[in-house]
Amino acid sequence: MTGHHLAHVPSPADQERDAARRADWWRDAVIYQVYPRSFADSDGDGMGDLPGVRDRLPYLRRLGVDAVWLSPFYASPQADAGYDVADYRAVDPMFGTLADADELIREAHALGLRVIVDLVPNHCSDRHEWFRRALAEGPGSPMRERFHFRPGKGAGGELPPNDWESLFGGPAWTRVTEPDGSAGEWYLHLFAAEQPDFDWEHEAVREEFRAILRFWLDLGVDGFRVDVAHGLVKAAGLPDIGHSEQLKLLGTKPLPFFDQDGVHEIYRDWRRILDGYEGERIAVAEAWTPTVERSALYLRPDELHQAFNFAYLTTDWDATALREVIDHSLGAMAEVRAPATWVLSNHDVVRHPTRLGGGDPALGLRRARAATLLMLALPGSAYLYQGEELGLPEVTELPDEARQDPAFFRGAGQDGLRDGCRVPLPWSGERPPYGFGPRPGGPSWLPQPEGWAKLTVAAQSGDPDSTLEFYRAALAQRRAHPALGAGSSVTWLDAPAGALAFRRDAADGSFVCAVNVTGTPLRVPSYGKVLLASAYLEEAGDAGEGFVLPADTTVWWSV
Ligand code: GLC
Ligand code: MG
Repeated sequence: MTGHHLAHVPSPADQERDAARRADWWRDAVIYQVYPRSFADSDGDGMGDLPGVRDRLPYLRRLGVDAVWLSPFYASPQADAGYDVADYRAVDPMFGTLADADELIREAHALGLRVIVDLVPNHCSDRHEWFRRALAEGPGSPMRERFHFRPGKGAGGELPPNDWESLFGGPAWTRVTEPDGSAGEWYLHLFAAEQPDFDWEHEAVREEFRAILRFWLDLGVDGFRVDVAHGLVKAAGLPDIGHSEQLKLLGTKPLPFFDQDGVHEIYRDWRRILDGYEGERIAVAEAWTPTVERSALYLRPDELHQAFNFAYLTTDWDATALREVIDHSLGAMAEVRAPATWVLSNHDVVRHPTRLGGGDPALGLRRARAATLLMLALPGSAYLYQGEELGLPEVTELPDEARQDPAFFRGAGQDGLRDGCRVPLPWSGERPPYGFGPRPGGPSWLPQPEGWAKLTVAAQSGDPDSTLEFYRAALAQRRAHPALGAGSSVTWLDAPAGALAFRRDAADGSFVCAVNVTGTPLRVPSYGKVLLASAYLEEAGDAGEGFVLPADTTVWWSV
């Protein structure tokens, strides 16, 4: 047996309508990240766009997700793929119009899908009106106070004001040329030079973001993904760190530009705004903090709703480590009564089949499917990144001339590897752009590999062994089973070394998930009726000796 479709489930349409009516929808939501540049290109310019997303909403509904998070589609020079925003209230023409965004939200809602948009409050684009004015109006001008402008060190101010490094490599400061042509002040940018950091001590910055929140809430969005949520407030006096290679500390040690206590006041303010709207509008923090406990602080009842669980994303394929991070995450979130979240991929990291495969693509996909089935069994909410439902690998062979990621050009930062997970999706057909754009042979902003014909949505649809049908089955089961979805704990069961097994109980049914993270089959008890398996079950059965859990495989049972 293949392990797929072993139990009856209500139709996705019925389930989705029920879910949409439910309160606390975000406590168990599966949220699908759309990276608009790479999802679907409606007009054939090689760049994905909002009408492209709108056309494919039925696909997402059929997949069985609850919500869509859209990476930035705002007016932007695209120095960092849209995370450099020039106008927070405008849609970049490359992605469409505000009317397209409006229609997208409406159509998503009609299909029972929620829409979360990206909010980038730590920095804007150097083409943002405020920053252009700050440059033009010169030192001492009020506009400069909305950013971090400082005189340089050294006799002629030729050295940066402190030793902070950009996350994309190089110094976090750039010196400007003043209106009179002289070499002048420096401004802070934790990311690319085209992304000046706002000074959140300035009330005008706070007021502007309140207005931006309301603008999108009024348009009907269900929430925000808060970019670099841990970065808004900087330690007073912008103190030196004292050594280089600061990136290596990311998410492990305190840094004066991250996770300062002052950020929480901002999120309490935003929560009041969110709660002022009907329906449950949410915010999810992208916060790389040193500990899960520090992340939980962003999720106190009067702050944000969720935070990405990067500790989980970065955990190795190892039973002990996985169990630890699961327990730790559930414990920390329970403290603040927030749902745990789980994530394996996004637009900033190497896709998980490649990450887990250690150079072996077949093993990587097998582990990725097992990891996904484990993630979807855990209590709380899960984030999917577009294309993972197709089992897409990281594209590792991009030529240098195709590269777009500013991290690649600035050298050290974030490994310069982020283009490889951003390659446009394959939808159909035998050759690039595989239905990403409307014309066979038409362009795509990053080249797609040869050999993706077998990974297209069209090729995988209806094939019960495909990764796409596996995701559809898993998401349908997750909705249907009473013990899956929201919750705050699991009950660990005895399992052989290298395996994890846990149970979840609800009033009207129990569930067991077991994972074998080793390369050899292991025996576990047969817990009940198999709902789904991440790989082919050859010797399934229970002839007294128990159940054979194949290598690198996850199995779900209804108990
Ligand atoms: C976040 C985004 C990333 C972006 C950075 C700067 O980490 O996920 O893509 O480059 O913020 O905005
Ligand atoms: Mg386009």
